[in-house]
Amino acid sequence: MKALIEGFSKLDKTEKMTWLAENYTSNPEKTVALLQKYWNSDPATQKVHDEFIENTLSNYYLPFAVAPNFTINGKNYAIPMAIEESSVVAAASKAAKFWGSRGGFKAEILGTEKVGQVHFIFHGETAKLERFFEDSHPKLLKSVGDITQSMEKRGGGVRSISLRDKTQEIPGYFQLHCTFETKDAMGANFINSCLEQFAKTLQELAESYPDFSETERQIEVVMSILSNYVPNCIVKASVSCPVKDLHNNSSKASAFAQKMMQAIAIAKAEPYRAVTHNKGVMNGVDAVVLATGNDFRAVEAGVHAYAAKDGTYSSLTHASIEDGIFHFWIELPLALGTVGGLTSLHPMVKLALEILQHPTAEELMQIVAVAGLAQNFAALNSLVTTGIQKGHMKMHLLNIINQLGANDDEKKQLVAHFEQNTVSVSGVKAALDNLRKS
Ligand code: HMG
Repeated sequence: MKALIEGFSKLDKTEKMTWLAENYTSNPEKTVALLQKYWNSDPATQKVHDEFIENTLSNYYLPFAVAPNFTINGKNYAIPMAIEESSVVAAASKAAKFWGSRGGFKAEILGTEKVGQVHFIFHGETAKLERFFEDSHPKLLKSVGDITQSMEKRGGGVRSISLRDKTQEIPGYFQLHCTFETKDAMGANFINSCLEQFAKTLQELAESYPDFSETERQIEVVMSILSNYVPNCIVKASVSCPVKDLHNNSSKASAFAQKMMQAIAIAKAEPYRAVTHNKGVMNGVDAVVLATGNDFRAVEAGVHAYAAKDGTYSSLTHASIEDGIFHFWIELPLALGTVGGLTSLHPMVKLALEILQHPTAEELMQIVAVAGLAQNFAALNSLVTTGIQKGHMKMHLLNIINQLGANDDEKKQLVAHFEQNTVSVSGVKAALDNLRKS
């Protein structure tokens, strides 16, 4: 039975590592050495990382890469990506290059509205609550004046508060459904601070509202929290070109366009396929969201909810052929920030934003949506032509070689060998065995 511990959070870093290593690993000395090996050599940088979260012992590396050659609305980008999966960056780069020579990507913001809710229980007459809400509306807004002041100067703030009757779902359940504009901030802290103040003000005003009975005065706030579902914070990214330009052989171009249409139709109709299809989109989205220090869990949750908005989980990307033109596009709900959070703290996030030429949140939404669309295009391109394994295994080769413990010289020879041969784990193992025998 493994040990439990009281007061772990109060131990210093060395004590935490030692306790963990001694109680949960077979070679404590090796464990501590490994954790220390991944510390940053600059203590000040390490301190920054230590303080992002709690109980930090070390750092967990992800590769930081770049996919060059993206043209978005006529501007060129090299897009930073943090991801562990081989072939994602290559796929994005390949799609960027392909569409770069066909007019590039277009992107536009369709909305930037964020949402938050105060969930509360009210037992009484709904009509009275509605009157109370009407009377309280200006006071609710006024109560967050201190919180919204700076955001309003930047053009943001609270956009609306409405009362929603949810008693059909749960007896006594109502909401203050609030919308916000948070400009270049993702806005979670701003929204949650406003909501908590709305909740407090709501309860205080109810306590002295003359028309309420004693019971009605006791509004019970369950919770106040932003929603990561942002169906009105939407970006659209698209590409298009004449079908004939999809391939240098015109009959192949037309067959490819048809196959792409079929692939999208299947992802729209079949949830098992849609999930994998959208996973491919998220390969690109998450990698950029992570590299730019944004909240990928929020993005994931919101995007998948959006994919199911019509009642069935479906494709995030769409395609059409009109008058001989192939159109391919995506609409994504993305609540992103380019200020606040990690953006001014994490040195690599700062670099990622510099590489992207210090985008506004709206520009970052466009870049992320383009990365998702490019990724989906590359994956579908492979799926409907060569199959996914050819390119994926080509990129995965180094991982397999490293797993088998090949030295640098063997690596070089294996890479050369597999330029002409199909990559598989057993194939690489056999080739390495042959190499060692000879
Ligand atoms: P290829 O045609 O063999 O590549 O494609 P190439 O060697 O001819 O190079 C063409 C370009 O690709 C390069 O141009 C690069 O832009 C890029 P260049 O730099 O030479 O001017 N490229 C690379 N970039 C960086 N490092 C590399 C590299 N190699 C090529 N080593 C490729 C090979 C893997 C790109 C292609 O097969 C491909 O796009 N495959 C799709 C891979 C993919 O989608 N991977 C995601 C993981 S699979 C998955 O999770 C999602 C999925 O299930 C989703 C779904 O089902 O829809 C598939």
